[in-house]
Amino acid sequence: MNKEIKNICCIGAGYVGGPTMAVFADKCPHLNISVVDKNPQRVRDWNSNDFNKLPIYEKGLDKLIKKCRGKNLYFSCDLKKYISEADMIFISVNTPTKTKGLGAGKASDLKWVESSSREIADYAKGETIVVEKSTLPVRTAQTIKSILDDSQSVNKDKKFTVLSNPEFLAEGSAINDLENPDRVLIGGDNLESIKALVNIYLNWIPEDKILTTDLWSSELSKLTANAFLAQRISSINSISALCERTGANVKDVSLAIGADRRIGKEFLNAGPGFGGSCFKKDILNLVYIYDYYGLHLEAKYWEKVVEINDWQKKRISNLIIEKLYGTVSGKKIAILGFSFKANTNDTRESPAISICKDLINEGGNLSIYDPKVSQNQIKVALNLPSRNTSFDETEGNWDFADSISEASSSSDAIVIITEWDEFKQLNWKEIKSKMRSPAWIFDTRSIINNKEAQKFGLKVWSVGQG
Ligand code: NAD
Ligand code: UGA
Repeated sequence: MNKEIKNICCIGAGYVGGPTMAVFADKCPHLNISVVDKNPQRVRDWNSNDFNKLPIYEKGLDKLIKKCRGKNLYFSCDLKKYISEADMIFISVNTPTKTKGLGAGKASDLKWVESSSREIADYAKGETIVVEKSTLPVRTAQTIKSILDDSQSVNKDKKFTVLSNPEFLAEGSAINDLENPDRVLIGGDNLESIKALVNIYLNWIPEDKILTTDLWSSELSKLTANAFLAQRISSINSISALCERTGANVKDVSLAIGADRRIGKEFLNAGPGFGGSCFKKDILNLVYIYDYYGLHLEAKYWEKVVEINDWQKKRISNLIIEKLYGTVSGKKIAILGFSFKANTNDTRESPAISICKDLINEGGNLSIYDPKVSQNQIKVALNLPSRNTSFDETEGNWDFADSISEASSSSDAIVIITEWDEFKQLNWKEIKSKMRSPAWIFDTRSIINNKEAQKFGLKVWSVGQG
């Protein structure tokens, strides 16, 4: 396929589609870029004049939207119009784990990939390059191709090629990751189409960072990258438990092992377990693929990474209960941070969800504060309405706090779950004066200065510190 690319359409205005296309629009002012989505509320939020209402919080994103929206970047529900005008279409829809049917609990649900492929098959005109941006099981391009081939055989004017271009951005640093990626990966079997996509990236990415390969290696590399990253976190979290028992300090262990270039220093922070929408689903998907090909031992190997992650969350809620004399019933516990990591408002698979649920089930009264997560998001994530009466109930409950001070006032314990900067330097003297004694701090990210907090009579537990 050898044509000039002028119009790009991205299906899916989510955590990937929105920021990715904002960076494309900024770096390629000569291209018209549309981001289409079936969800009208999401599209309205992207088009909001109040930049605090953009559906995604990501540093630097508002500036790009301000600069490009209405010039060469459009958000719309009109799939037919923008797909039919596009020379290149990115599929950036959600691919969560299947909840029922064949492969439930492990395989990716490709319902949304299939529906977007059908939308492309129906509306696209002439020659179109279709790019998988979503994270997909290896060989999904085959499914997309077969849907597109069917429409191609009915309407001879339509011509499609399919590329894989997985996204490696991390939430919280998405704009920087998109502007300065470690690499861009493009898989395909049509050299002209690959060249067309390479040329777009060359607008801001050095050539040596653009890797090209076949479709299947590209698809599999994305799942593998996430599995390797998640494996490092489960590995260091398993070491954190051993440090606590033996008197070692996991931060020093991370520093020591990370200094070995073969290991590397990134992604070695022990914590409450990995969250986010992708690690768990992508590893489980890999497990499903292994089992599908009869590689059961290998499937079990990767499944353990997820098991260790669940265990770390449970380990933390159990030890909070144990340290609070075996019961949290009727106690007020401040939860600082609800997003799955700092600098994002995303709560999908946040470790805060299972830790909070465990504490509520044990009768705790939680007061939850997060600088970017709304009360409604917490309500949806916990699937429990918030309390509006006083703290002396025997049933566990939760409420939303507007500040650290409100959350910690009269509390028996503070649990730091997300590593937001504002939790790193707290005024322990003031906080201690408002808490009930004995007052505990549980630092699941090991971000506070323990000695400073202990100076004011607080009892401190920090992940991985023996
Ligand atoms: P998301 O749920 O935030 O967004 C997906 C959007 O697609 C939704 O707004 C949904 O309404 C829309 N959609 C679904 N089907 C549609 C259809 N047929 N037509 C039009 N719109 C449709 O998901 P996300 O976090 O952006 O992730 C998208 C993909 O990117 C997933 O495969 C994910 O694994 C992958 N990924 C995510 C991240 C991340 O950090 N979130 C990073 C890299 C890759
Ligand atoms: C991750 C990958 O880092 C991205 O490269 C990938 O594109 C993305 O998944 C995806 O496919 O969705 P993301 O989930 O946004 O990105 O965030 P990460 O920074 O990877 O953090 C994931 C979880 O691991 C968070 O809960 C974080 O707190 C935790 N983590 C991370 C640790 O506990 N320790 C660390 O050292 C690093």
